[in-house]
Amino acid sequence: MAFKSKIKTIEWVDNVSRMIDQTILPKEFKLVDIKTADEMYDAIKTMIVRGAPAIGIAGAHGVALAALEAGKKYTDIESFKNYITEKGKYLKSSRPTAVNLMWAVDKQLEILNGGGSITDLTEKLIKNAVVMENEDIEINKRMGDYGAEIVPKGATILTHCNAGALATVGYGTALGVIRSAYAKDPTIKVFADETRPRQQGARLTTWELTEDGIDTTLITDGMCSYFMKKKMIDVVITGADRIAANGDAANKIGTYTVAISAKYHNVPFYIAAPLSTIDTSIASGDEIKIEERNREEVTHINGDWICAEKVNIINPGFDVTPNELIAGIITEKGILRPPFKESIKKAFEG
Ligand code: MRU
Repeated sequence: MAFKSKIKTIEWVDNVSRMIDQTILPKEFKLVDIKTADEMYDAIKTMIVRGAPAIGIAGAHGVALAALEAGKKYTDIESFKNYITEKGKYLKSSRPTAVNLMWAVDKQLEILNGGGSITDLTEKLIKNAVVMENEDIEINKRMGDYGAEIVPKGATILTHCNAGALATVGYGTALGVIRSAYAKDPTIKVFADETRPRQQGARLTTWELTEDGIDTTLITDGMCSYFMKKKMIDVVITGADRIAANGDAANKIGTYTVAISAKYHNVPFYIAAPLSTIDTSIASGDEIKIEERNREEVTHINGDWICAEKVNIINPGFDVTPNELIAGIITEKGILRPPFKESIKKAFEG
């Protein structure tokens, strides 16, 4: 069950996309096979697969599944391409905030612009989906190597949500940095925010890290300032779902609060994210579309009402941390430092 066993969160196997069902972890560990592009849309939307890089790969798999479907329906190349393009658009509409989804689907759709028969294009789309899958792990390990440098000896690291192996194909972004730091210094410790309302921190992060033997303490979202004031947190590392050209970073709701508290208490706040999470087409975080999720995530816990039935509910899934609160963005090309406008530009040039 542990990540040491090298299970991928999402993997292309015998023309299906096999993934860990993250809605039932840690109670149950189950793999599900996604066989069509429409099933993939549902898997992303219902968060069977979640986390920015993982849903990017899910999108890439979804396009490959669409090609297999189109190959059975059509013999003319234009209808084949149109079908895949429409399914690509549909997949991109499953969740709005993580740009990795749009990035990965668009990378797949670009293949349709090259020449080739239906068979050639289908093969290319499958091959590229598998390449992207494997690259994701390599990129995370590179990020881990760079990021481990910023973790002081014996440090306690606070993380929010789940930016781990489960949010990627394997190893993780923020948790990848923690894994690399732990490999050098097994005395490091982690504090994991529970991450209301979907509990990705409690359900997924604590499971992943404790399976790997990393000393992990679960805290509720409101506790971070308390522990920072007591000097029990040395550094914060989270993932991101979309980073604007100026470094403003969208991540799971509550991240902004953690970053403000970190600034106040002089605790460095880092983001770990691959370049595919950076959206250079937008100047600032104001342009990031924030997913609004259903009210039941807030009104219920395990199927039980926890509030008055007539109460108003607003449930944004993400918030944007302004760049001035971020000490660095750990990427596969190194740690980007402020001013981010320049360092991000340079990372894409080099
Ligand atoms: O709603 P989720 O669970 O998909 O949100 C996930 C996060 O916010 C992660 O921190 C982010 O995707 C980075 S994952 C490496």
